[in-house]
Amino acid sequence: MKRKLAPSMMCADIFSLTETLACFEKADIELLHIDIMDGAFVPNFTLGTDYVKQLKKRTSIPLDLHFMTEYPERHLDAFPIGKGDYVSIHYESTKHLQRVLESVKTKGARVLLALNPATPVECAMDVLDDVDGLLIMSVNPGFAGQKMVPHTLEKLRRARAFLDANGRPDAEIQVDGNVTFEHAAGMSAAGANILVLGSTLFGSRDMSAAIHQYRTVI
Ligand code: DX5
Ligand code: ZN
Repeated sequence: MKRKLAPSMMCADIFSLTETLACFEKADIELLHIDIMDGAFVPNFTLGTDYVKQLKKRTSIPLDLHFMTEYPERHLDAFPIGKGDYVSIHYESTKHLQRVLESVKTKGARVLLALNPATPVECAMDVLDDVDGLLIMSVNPGFAGQKMVPHTLEKLRRARAFLDANGRPDAEIQVDGNVTFEHAAGMSAAGANILVLGSTLFGSRDMSAAIHQYRTVI
C-alpha cells in the first residue's frame, strides 16, 4: 500500500508557516495532520477553526483532521472538510460512533477510526463498513514529544491482521505519536501506511532532508 507522510501542524513554527508549506508542497507531502483538542477529551488546546480555514485557502495539500474532542459531531460542521480530506474520529469520544462516521462520509472525506493505546482493535468490528481505515495512537493523545507506548508495533501488526481477516485488506492504517526515524521503519513494516510526523520532523535542522530520510526508511 502507498506510504503517506502527514506532518503534524501543531508542531510547526507559526511564524514560518509560509516557508513550511512551500517545503511540504515541494516534497509532495500527502497530508497535513491537524490536531484538534478541546481541553476535555484531552488536557490541551491546539488548532482551531480559523487556523484550519486559512490553511485550507493557502495549500492544496489535503487536510487530515484528528478530532480529540468530546462529541466530535458537535464540531464537524465548523471545519472545512471536503473530498480528499481525511477525518479521524476517536472510538472513545462519542456515544453514537456509527452515526458520526457516516456523517463524515457524507462530506466526501475519508474517515479513520482512532483508537487510544488502551482501546483494542476489535472495537472496530461493527463499524468496519463505515471506515476507510484505523488510526492507531502510539502515545496517549494530548501532547507532542511523548514516548511511544511499548505495545504499539505489536498492535499495528494485530490491526493489519484484523483488517485483512475481516475483509478489509484495502483499509489504511495511520500511526500517530513519536514517529522517529528509528520507529518509522518498524511501524511501516508492522502495517502502518500513513505516518504522522511531529516533533522529530519539526525539530530537524533541514526538514526537506528529514522528509527524504523518512521516505527511504518506510
Ligand atoms: C498527539 C498528537 C500528535 C502529535 C505527534 O496527541 O495527536 O499528532 O503532534 O507529535 P510527536 O511526533 O512529537 O509525538
Ligand atoms: Zn494527531
